[in-house]
Amino acid sequence: MPLPYEEILDYTLIDADRLQARIAELGREISADYRSDQEIVLIGILKGSLLFMADLMRHIDVPNIVDFMDVTSYGAGVRESTGSVRILRDITVSIERRHVLITEDIIDSGRTLDQVMRLLRARQPATLRVCTLLDKHERREVVIPVDYCGFKIPNVFVFGYGLDIDEYYRNLPFIGVVKPGIVLDEGT
Ligand code: IMP
Ligand code: MG
Repeated sequence: MPLPYEEILDYTLIDADRLQARIAELGREISADYRSDQEIVLIGILKGSLLFMADLMRHIDVPNIVDFMDVTSYGAGVRESTGSVRILRDITVSIERRHVLITEDIIDSGRTLDQVMRLLRARQPATLRVCTLLDKHERREVVIPVDYCGFKIPNVFVFGYGLDIDEYYRNLPFIGVVKPGIVLDEGT
């Protein structure tokens, strides 16, 4: 059983109201940017983008379909990702000549998204854009063109609102910072 979240929470970084307000803004921005005669294929990267995607799409009023991709990094500990990703679940729709918007929970080194974008670009979408809820920009190792960003955050380990610690706490409606010294299992 996981510890109650209160025991691992250092402080709340973004509370539920701020999250929801910013996500509504992002949805309006996205809706304005895609002409109404365009449709969007929203691709969520599992599992972290689950809550973000569900809330964001309620504020998008351009015709859209959703799909999901689940990827994993080779040889990564729970807090870091390596260069290569493996697809655990691919999207099932064709994205050729369509307008694709990737929705991510967080961009850290950028390696995961870099690989995902290479894979998707090879399928020749009309456009390929990125919407991330959180951007840990100080940690970036590869250049990622971020079209929409909810919040730039400092280099701290966060959880809640889709983001997990050992798979737990994704259901929390806010983003919290984990207490220093909380040791997590490696090797998932
Ligand atoms: P990147 O490939 O280094 O950009 O890592 C991106 C992935 O690492 C995200 O999709 C998350 O699954 C995970 N990740 C990075 N930072 C955090 C964090 O602070 N909390 C939870 N997961 C994180
Ligand atoms: Mg993730």
